[in-house]
Amino acid sequence: MKVAIGADHGGFKLKAEITDLLNELGIDFTDFGTYSADSIDYPDVAIPVAEAVANGEFDRGILICGTGIGIGIAANKVKGIRAALVHDTFSAKATRQHNDSNILTMGERVIGAGLAREIAQIWLETEFEGGRHENRVCKISDYEVR
Ligand code: RB5
Repeated sequence: MKVAIGADHGGFKLKAEITDLLNELGIDFTDFGTYSADSIDYPDVAIPVAEAVANGEFDRGILICGTGIGIGIAANKVKGIRAALVHDTFSAKATRQHNDSNILTMGERVIGAGLAREIAQIWLETEFEGGRHENRVCKISDYEVR
């Protein structure tokens, strides 16, 4: 699996925790920045990461900002992206099983590193269930090409 990861200045510290996790899990990733507390605009990271996932260069993406909200809104504007804001382990599993989410977003100002690592690991390791959920996800994709 290849993962694209990115954050704005509100999420770069948590991004470092998650890149440590990816290294521990032996998952190949590319870090799209940012790397400091210098202020940037979250769409400038969200859109390149989302496009790289949507075009198949990467299998999944992880995006982090202060809340996880802005960066997810921006990512979800890219066709083919199903970005899920997750701050609990139940939703981490459910959004993979039911929504086939291809981008995980989290907020550094919302949760601690320990929970964020658990969420990311569960999200990375959980497969899409397909079945009745397939049709629902297809309806989203169909709408995008109308
Ligand atoms: C940056 O201050 C903050 O607005 C951003 O990280 C994010 O939380 C936006 O949704």
